[in-house]
Amino acid sequence: MSNYEEFKSNINRLINIDLNYYKEKQMKRRIESLLTRNGYKDFSDYYIGLKSDKALLDQFVNYLTINVSEFYRNTNQWEVLVKDIFPDLIEKNKNIKVWSSASSTGEEPYSLVMALTNFYPLRDIKVLATDIDAEAINKAKLGLYSEKSLEGLPRGFREKYFKKVQNSYQISDDIKKSVEFKKLDLLKDKFPTNVDLIVCRNVMIYFTEGAKELLYSKFYDSLSDHGILFVGSTEQIIMPEKYKFKPVRTFFYKKLS
Ligand SMILES: C[S@@+](CC[C@H](N)C(=O)[O-])C[C@H]1O[C@@H](n2cnc3c(N)ncnc32)[C@H](O)[C@@H]1O
Repeated sequence: MSNYEEFKSNINRLINIDLNYYKEKQMKRRIESLLTRNGYKDFSDYYIGLKSDKALLDQFVNYLTINVSEFYRNTNQWEVLVKDIFPDLIEKNKNIKVWSSASSTGEEPYSLVMALTNFYPLRDIKVLATDIDAEAINKAKLGLYSEKSLEGLPRGFREKYFKKVQNSYQISDDIKKSVEFKKLDLLKDKFPTNVDLIVCRNVMIYFTEGAKELLYSKFYDSLSDHGILFVGSTEQIIMPEKYKFKPVRTFFYKKLS
């Protein structure tokens, strides 16, 4: 299918998402399958549809952004976070700043709040959560989850922080109150500063090498001295020293000053 180049610039103009940052083969194949499923024949045809049909556009953004998540995703790494990483950070700075940078439907920032209850009273916990997808943020604020997404939670948290509502689980207001959600595009927007822990998991896999390099340097600038970057389980940084990061544990990198 042709016209992908033109489609990318049109999309950038329409919704300010730059598809050039995403791995081309994978992204193009995904969009082609979506447009065919919706009965369009090519990218130009599909773009005309996207411009005039809000529901179609919402479906496109939603599909593009792949929101799958779960609580304590890759449980072992959360154990390392609680046992080693948080105690170290908290020793250096009593009030640590924590940012879930591709927070999707909320499982990750809410897991961070729960993990932090090992160190602070709930009312003192604040986690920043951002994502490019407004729809995902809305779902996160709603806080309704499937039983499956809760499977990795440590013992006791489900009973303490969720209420069963029919077939779903509603997260408690106290946990919700501890997260501040904002829309933020990792590739285009300014980052918060002085962050002690940046969690960026399962999004870099979709980005080109160039986009990843840009991100590592933005993360570096965003972290406090000795701050930590926590990545997904297939997202280890190749040659971290090139970006002034030092691996402290697998999937955890410390900023070098
Ligand atoms: C697979 S989810 C990962 C959720 C969570 N971090 C986890 O590991 O379970 C990927 C998320 O990245 C977000 N995303 C994609 N491109 C982004 C960008 N340029 N800036 C910010 N978020 C982005 C998507 O909207 C989606 O919610």
